Amino acid sequence: MRVSKKATHLIGSEIIKLAAEVNSLKAQGRDILNLTIGDFDPAVFPLPHTLQEAIIDAYRAGHTNYPQADGMASLREALSAWYAQDLGLQYAPETEIIVAGGGRPLIYSVYLAVVNPGDKVLYPVPSWNNNHYTYLADGVAIEVEALPENGFMPTPDQLLPHLKEVALVSLCSPLNPTGTVIRPEFLKTISEAIVQENKQRETDGRRPVFLMYDQIYWTLTAQGISHVQPVALCPDIRPYTIFVDGISKSFAATGVRVGWSMGPADVIGKMKPILAHIGAWAPKPEQMAVATYVNTSAAKADVESIQKAAMDRLTRLHAGFQALKAEGFPFDSIAPQGAIYLSVRVDLPQAGEWLLKEAGVALVPFSAFGALSSQAWFRLSVGTLRTEDIEPLFARLRTLLS
Ligand SMILES: Cc1ncc(COP(=O)(O)O)c(C=O)c1O
Repeated sequence: MRVSKKATHLIGSEIIKLAAEVNSLKAQGRDILNLTIGDFDPAVFPLPHTLQEAIIDAYRAGHTNYPQADGMASLREALSAWYAQDLGLQYAPETEIIVAGGGRPLIYSVYLAVVNPGDKVLYPVPSWNNNHYTYLADGVAIEVEALPENGFMPTPDQLLPHLKEVALVSLCSPLNPTGTVIRPEFLKTISEAIVQENKQRETDGRRPVFLMYDQIYWTLTAQGISHVQPVALCPDIRPYTIFVDGISKSFAATGVRVGWSMGPADVIGKMKPILAHIGAWAPKPEQMAVATYVNTSAAKADVESIQKAAMDRLTRLHAGFQALKAEGFPFDSIAPQGAIYLSVRVDLPQAGEWLLKEAGVALVPFSAFGALSSQAWFRLSVGTLRTEDIEPLFARLRTLLS
């Protein structure tokens, strides 16, 4: 092998592999409804106009040199104000906030900042990419399988027995791939247990366990569901919590590449040189634009319209699958709670192949997100779905199975 051991054993994105299969079928002239990618089709979910204009203005104003290593001060100040206003979180722009080129490099730098080689990382499956970041950080994964009856969210009973041995707990809500949110009482119990564990560790002179809380979908919740975050439920967890967030999903801006983390100054302070060495900054014009945009009424309206459009599609799809189920067809789905995903169950042999080749719809199996036993479950993403494609989809499924 000519490349390093790390490169040899690194697994690429499972979803991108599936996308290649879809594209090859499309190239053969097949009409495939591709609901695999956790991205937005700009023709369906365009970048908000005000943000687009602000980015163009920032380029014209000549903001094209290196940004500050931890993000432009104006953006960190704007994010601090946004979090204070909408989430009741107080983070100091100078020391407790860092900006990078989207959520991914931030997650990677959280792992590098708190996980030593051989340290254990605790996370539920199905979940998004924790396996890859654990691998990159030379950590050891402890995966607990979240179950459909719990909305595919981990329970305290599953997580707490492992707390003693881990360096990092990774949670995400609303969750990719399931479109569900964590129950506030569960998150509170888990947070309190982490605080307790850390009290003991402090006495023993051991490093604490950290909680990475990925809330990149927090503005995308279903009607009647409020986003929950650990610091609101358990203020004592603040010194151990690192938030991951960004504009990718809340502003349908996956290609614009602006993300941020909030957390204790010592961890954020170490994520800064990690990110700087990788050069994973968000482009400066985009940062300047987001700074002027996030706290405007236009941004609030844009967030709301993206949320409504996503939830409308998810609600219709859930209703469609529930109707099929009621008619005796082998489908099920979990009521959407957030993000841009629906958990769909298809009880057919080789369901993925059948969906793709017979029904002409591509979904991602939960096994791609590390699920072990939930073989019949799939992630359906609505980021590329036109409302007018929903009815024909159900008509096709009904006809095929009748
Ligand atoms: C749960 C979760 N976190 C973080 C990210 C990273 O987002 P990005 O790097 O595009 O900002 C994604 C992207 O799909 C995600 O699903």
